[in-house]
Amino acid sequence: MSTIVEVDGLVKEFNEKRAVNGVSFSIQKGEVVAILGPNGAGKTTTLLMLLGLLRPTEGKAAIFHKDPKSKAVRERIGVMLQEVSLMDGLKAKELIKLFRGYYPNPLPMNHLIQLTGLEKGDLEKRTEKLSGGQKRRVAFALALAGNPDLLFFDEPTVGMDTSSRRIFWETVKELAREGKTIIFTTHYLQEADDYAERMILFKEGHIIADGKTAEIKRKMTKQSVSFVAGEDISKERFLKLSFVTEVTEKEGRMHIVTDDTDSVLSMIYKENLHVKDIRVEKGRLEEAFEQLTKSQGEAV
Ligand SMILES: Nc1ncnc2c1ncn2[C@@H]1O[C@H](COP(=O)(O)OP(=O)(O)OP(=O)(O)O)[C@@H](O)[C@H]1O
Ligand SMILES: [Mg+2]
Repeated sequence: MSTIVEVDGLVKEFNEKRAVNGVSFSIQKGEVVAILGPNGAGKTTTLLMLLGLLRPTEGKAAIFHKDPKSKAVRERIGVMLQEVSLMDGLKAKELIKLFRGYYPNPLPMNHLIQLTGLEKGDLEKRTEKLSGGQKRRVAFALALAGNPDLLFFDEPTVGMDTSSRRIFWETVKELAREGKTIIFTTHYLQEADDYAERMILFKEGHIIADGKTAEIKRKMTKQSVSFVAGEDISKERFLKLSFVTEVTEKEGRMHIVTDDTDSVLSMIYKENLHVKDIRVEKGRLEEAFEQLTKSQGEAV
């Protein structure tokens, strides 16, 4: 594995307020990483520092082991910022052509159109006359124009309709299959869950969790096995098991909170316990996420 993004102790102060307060992570070639966190958590500020578009108060960032502002790096990355601003006065297709000209090995125009779902009508319009969603599609084409190895998308699908969103994620999946490295922020947990193998969670300028999506989900969401218990079943019997974290009783049902529902089920069968109406419940990621980002969350 090779590290292509390195962020070390980034801090950003705006008027003495710390928007980013000591953020470090590294990203390996071929990873697809989702950056999540509530509004104002410091995601965009971190990305801007990482890209060399904003000067850090402290810390440093490197892309391909180089200064993010260097030409060698610029030629190999594609960026779509949260606030899309396109140069006025040009038709969309002219702007894309202009951008392709900046890169040594740009993608062919037809390929860009196919990857981004841009329509003929969009391409012929002057950029200031495009709708918000159409602008995003053009911004997506600009990000891909240079056939980059590394892509940054800051809330890429905000304002996209269902079909643009589908095209966007299909293309991201294709790029990931080709071995490109992709970093995106989103407020849609489902997007992170569906497309990213790794999640980085921001809260109040810090990273509060960083790991494999499946692992974070497993740790964050409470799972439980519940059933109507026979009289001979005591809570203690479950509490002494290492994979059980909590046992509660509600409305005549016993709830075994666990990180391993399979082991709870096999224990019930093995010991032939008298239980009825067994249900396995998996917690919702949204709920767990809200909990973690609202309260004083512990690192997971
Ligand atoms: N140029 C600026 N001047 C002053 N404060 C700023 C500036 N840019 C960002 N901030 C502040 O820094 C904090 C982090 O903002 P940032 O845009 O990084 O958050 P975010 O995680 O990207 O949020 P969102 O999910 O809303 O995009 C916020 O409190 C914001 O008000
Ligand atoms: Mg942001």
